[in-house]
Amino acid sequence: MTNKSTNTVWHNASVSRADREILHKHKSVVVWFTGLSGSGKSTLAHAVEEYLYRNGKSTYVLDGDNVRHGLCSDLGFSDKDRIENIRRIGEVAKLLTEAGIITLTAFISPFRADRDEVRKRFPHGDFLEIYCECPIETCETRDVKGLYKKARAGEIPFFTGIGSPYQAPLRPEMILNTNELNINECVNKVVDLLIKKYILE
Ligand code: ADX
Repeated sequence: MTNKSTNTVWHNASVSRADREILHKHKSVVVWFTGLSGSGKSTLAHAVEEYLYRNGKSTYVLDGDNVRHGLCSDLGFSDKDRIENIRRIGEVAKLLTEAGIITLTAFISPFRADRDEVRKRFPHGDFLEIYCECPIETCETRDVKGLYKKARAGEIPFFTGIGSPYQAPLRPEMILNTNELNINECVNKVVDLLIKKYILE
């Protein structure tokens, strides 16, 4: 995207990310959950956050439905709007990472190129992509929000997996089959990944 904010000068903070990481006693990172609606992204992001919070870590969850009530309330579900949605979330996640926080994001983020663009904005190793793999049939059976039913009835024209594509990651840091693993097993796997990546001890 071209930068229209001309005549602006970057101001370097005197308190650095490294200083904040020392204060928080852990490194910061973004854990980016992606997958179909109903694949368990939000449930998992919040469950991981709860575990980390109980263990004294500084965290924040950016959740699709919530962010669309504020920061992205001007965006719909066209390809163009989804691209902008993910770009904005990527930038917010970057700010939170600079603030020394472990950020967990739960967005469908259906397009591979958009996720890859966000990844590029982070130093190597600071963006961990986790694919919540779940057959659409299972998501549709769960239909927690009743949206698949509406989409099948033609009431939501560009619903992901029905009227709009979902592109699975090619090389995510982790794949969680949320159809087969229970929530605790998934949380443990994410925590193990954070230990393996030296985010947690
Ligand atoms: S994304 O595609 O731009 O990443 P995001 O994660 O922010 O989507 O929002 C997805 C949530 O919006 C879904 O969980 C669902 O509740 C709601 N939603 C409403 N319309 C659609 C649609 N056409 N496709 C997918 N989700 C939709």
